[in-house]
Amino acid sequence: MSLIKEKFLKLGAEFAPGQEVRQDTSEIKLRGEKIPGTPVDFSHGDVDAFEPIPGSLDRFIDGVHVGGKQAYTEYRGSKLIRENVAEKLSKFTGTTINAERNFIITPGTQGALFLAMGSVISRGDKVAIVVPDYFANRKLVEFFDGEVIPIEMDYLTANTNAGLNLNQLESAFKAGVKLFLFSNPNNPTGVIYSPEEIGSIAELAQQYEATVIVDQLYSRQLFEGRTYTHLSAQNLMDPENVITIMGPSKTESLSGYRLGVAFGSSQIIERMEKLQAIVSLRAAGYSQAVLKSWFDEPAGWMEKRISDHQAIRDDLIAKFRGSEGFQVRVTEAGSYLFPKLPKLDVTIGEFVKILRVQANVTVTPGSEFGPQFTDSFRINFSQDHQAAVTAIERLIRIVEVYRK
Ligand SMILES: Cc1ncc(COP(=O)(O)O)c(C=O)c1O
Repeated sequence: MSLIKEKFLKLGAEFAPGQEVRQDTSEIKLRGEKIPGTPVDFSHGDVDAFEPIPGSLDRFIDGVHVGGKQAYTEYRGSKLIRENVAEKLSKFTGTTINAERNFIITPGTQGALFLAMGSVISRGDKVAIVVPDYFANRKLVEFFDGEVIPIEMDYLTANTNAGLNLNQLESAFKAGVKLFLFSNPNNPTGVIYSPEEIGSIAELAQQYEATVIVDQLYSRQLFEGRTYTHLSAQNLMDPENVITIMGPSKTESLSGYRLGVAFGSSQIIERMEKLQAIVSLRAAGYSQAVLKSWFDEPAGWMEKRISDHQAIRDDLIAKFRGSEGFQVRVTEAGSYLFPKLPKLDVTIGEFVKILRVQANVTVTPGSEFGPQFTDSFRINFSQDHQAAVTAIERLIRIVEVYRK
């Protein structure tokens, strides 16, 4: 097979949100009846159930009224908006972010991830990523012709930290890894790295002169008042070796505006801007104006959003724990659960398809987050509360039918 064919084969997008309908189910032998119920797509959050920050559309319209200047911003984003957001993020993270040198606005957090990875990986580079972690991480390393070095995270057994295997990380650095990428809070498990883990990552990166990219998309949605440690605020490593990625797509439901940001190393931000100039030129100009509503939510809005999600999380966990054989760690931040299934007599890929066809429930197979997670699935529980609960009841009924 040609290299380019092989490369794109690995990028399989059939489990990506909104694409599940493309899955072929003709070869699966279904058992039992269809279970009726409101369709629920757990592969992403529901922005109808949890609406965007109030006033965000008005900010977008303001952007349109600004006109050409807003349509054609600098490649790294409008200066005024960079200044506005850099100030808010400096306060949030406890990091000094210079809007001119250390900051870029991108099309989604995904855009930031692509640009950051594209700016630091060249052919054959060894790149350490956590397993399990966000599906795109592994695909990006492979796409940029790097070599994936997996670092395990024992999330199910650990309970006072994320469970990252720091010995493996150190061995990876010793073996020549110069880039480590991870999400914190972790997608798919919803765990937060402890201050000690973040400190150790910083110290190891400093010792082995490695760059760290941290995806903090969910770092505002913390349950039970948990604390969060920002890698960028650690004085243990050279700030030129850290890039932080964030965005307002999830907790704030602004996904449809396709906005993200990256801040940190001026050298990497400069490369990211050059790459952006040949990928998309800039993040959508009018959308950039919406970033003004980020971190400027009405009083109490964020607290309510968090408590609503916590209530859904608790109900879903109670359902899983009430059914024999499921194992799940309580989400500490973000909207994901990553339950481990009881033994089934179908593969994870088949289970996901069966669930969609027989119960109108869409989940993401664990194998998207690391090839070994063939007994787990991920759900985004940012959904209508009642619909989510009844969908999980249907999922559990399907598990009963296909249990080994
Ligand atoms: C950890 C993580 N990073 C990046 C993204 C992409 O987000 P965005 O919609 O901001 O592009 C997601 C979306 O699920 C995510 O969970």
